[in-house]
Amino acid sequence: MIRHFLDIADLDGNALAAILDDALVAKRARGVRPKGAADSDASLAGHTLAMIFEKNSTRTRTSFQMAIRQLGGSAMVMETGSMQLGRGETVADTARVLSRMVDAIMIRTDDHAKLVEMAEHADVPVINGLTDRSHPCQIVADMLTVLEHRSRLAGTKWAWLGDGNNVLTSIIEAGSLLKFEVAVACPEALQPPSDIVTAARERGGSVTITRDPHEAVAGADVVVTDTWISMGQKGGEAKLAALEPFRVTPDLMQRAKDDALFLHCLPAHRGEEVSAEIIDGPQSVVWDEAENRLHAQKAILRWCFGLIG
Ligand code: CP
Ligand code: NVA
Repeated sequence: MIRHFLDIADLDGNALAAILDDALVAKRARGVRPKGAADSDASLAGHTLAMIFEKNSTRTRTSFQMAIRQLGGSAMVMETGSMQLGRGETVADTARVLSRMVDAIMIRTDDHAKLVEMAEHADVPVINGLTDRSHPCQIVADMLTVLEHRSRLAGTKWAWLGDGNNVLTSIIEAGSLLKFEVAVACPEALQPPSDIVTAARERGGSVTITRDPHEAVAGADVVVTDTWISMGQKGGEAKLAALEPFRVTPDLMQRAKDDALFLHCLPAHRGEEVSAEIIDGPQSVVWDEAENRLHAQKAILRWCFGLIG
């Protein structure tokens, strides 16, 4: 069976834990070799990854490119504007053609259904590089960062403040598999998808949703937020005004645990979803989080090719 990496909830807790473990071990084992040099075992030598971008990216693009390189393989970046996909060739035909020439496909797109369609028609692993619904690769990096700084996930409390978006969806799924609590504070109209929340609760996950950011951050181990306007969304004064009380400020951060970590997938907007004092302050681990995208992608690729779990 082909191992696609479409959503966190497609995995079980053991597989997810194995991916995290592999990433941490490989990160430590790599030492200080140049960033472009292959790992000593070059475990995916000769493998090629096609990366399709329908939306902008800095971290996902760089981390996958360097990940496959460090694993001994290579990547090609394809912007949809320069592909036939951009002028009407179907997702299914694109999947069939790429499957004949590359070993894996990563796609960043808007509609989650396109990702699923790509996977249905591909004969090689397909990886979700972000859709409007979820961002699973990001959350693997987030969990790695918390593990490095706090050594555990189970039993920790993560407070999400702001828009109930694609990044939150993947956090909720991860929390339900690895048993950390997700406390969401968001405006009524910007809640995470109810099917995601219901499914997470059915798996035994602890997900709470409140309008009160103070309640969500109380005693949190991790405080996390994201841009108020995701790619492809229309902004609008009303949305920004509704989100105003959910900015991560020093006052709110004080209500979390003294040693709480601040996470943000980036890109960030200082003065909107987070105060500069927080993202640039001592509790922020956003640069480790960004670097961990690389280590996460390597483990995800290795999992897709059956080298883990
Ligand atoms: N966090 C993240 O996915 O960043 P990019 O949009 O730069 O890839
Ligand atoms: N929620 C953001 C994440 C960017 C990495 C977006 O979809 O634009």
